[in-house]
Amino acid sequence: MAENDWIYVTDESDLSDGKMMPVYPLGVHVLLAKVDDLIYALSGKCVHMACPLYTGTLEGNILTCPCHDWRYNIKTGEFLDATELRLETYQMKSENGKLFIMLTKGEIIVKKVSMYTLSTCPWCRKQKSSFKTTIYHLTTLTTNLADEKTQSMIMNELDANGANGFPFVKIDKNVVHGYNPERYTALLDL
Ligand code: FES
Repeated sequence: MAENDWIYVTDESDLSDGKMMPVYPLGVHVLLAKVDDLIYALSGKCVHMACPLYTGTLEGNILTCPCHDWRYNIKTGEFLDATELRLETYQMKSENGKLFIMLTKGEIIVKKVSMYTLSTCPWCRKQKSSFKTTIYHLTTLTTNLADEKTQSMIMNELDANGANGFPFVKIDKNVVHGYNPERYTALLDL
């Protein structure tokens, strides 16, 4: 997908006036808000401590964070007490009742994750189930159930990376082997 593609996020009828909702195009946390029949799309996380803003309040043009009451202009994303701080804003368009968003280059955070496991490995199962809730492009191969050629490819890859156990995970160009939730969290920006 090209970086400047329009991405469908929801139907216009899902958002009523004066309401907010979160959407997650390509894994980006985005807040949609409708004010006076216009729809705005902003970063869904507060710039203070990343609280989810859709659980805050919207009064007129003013969005208030639920955690420590920082207030933002919903139209511009500006933090009212220091306008140099702002929420990222995104272009929106509506076509035939469908809402589309364009993400800026720096906000596309989808990671390509490949994972090699063993069907008998409890740590592999644990890691795989945690990925399911947060990863969008996850591919897995169960090594001991794969064909000979694939097994050989996997073992060569493990060898090349000095890995001696499973799960073996590639996150973009980074490699992690063994159960290591802190490392996965850091690489995935969770
Ligand atoms: S996290 Fe939003 S005001 Fe603190």
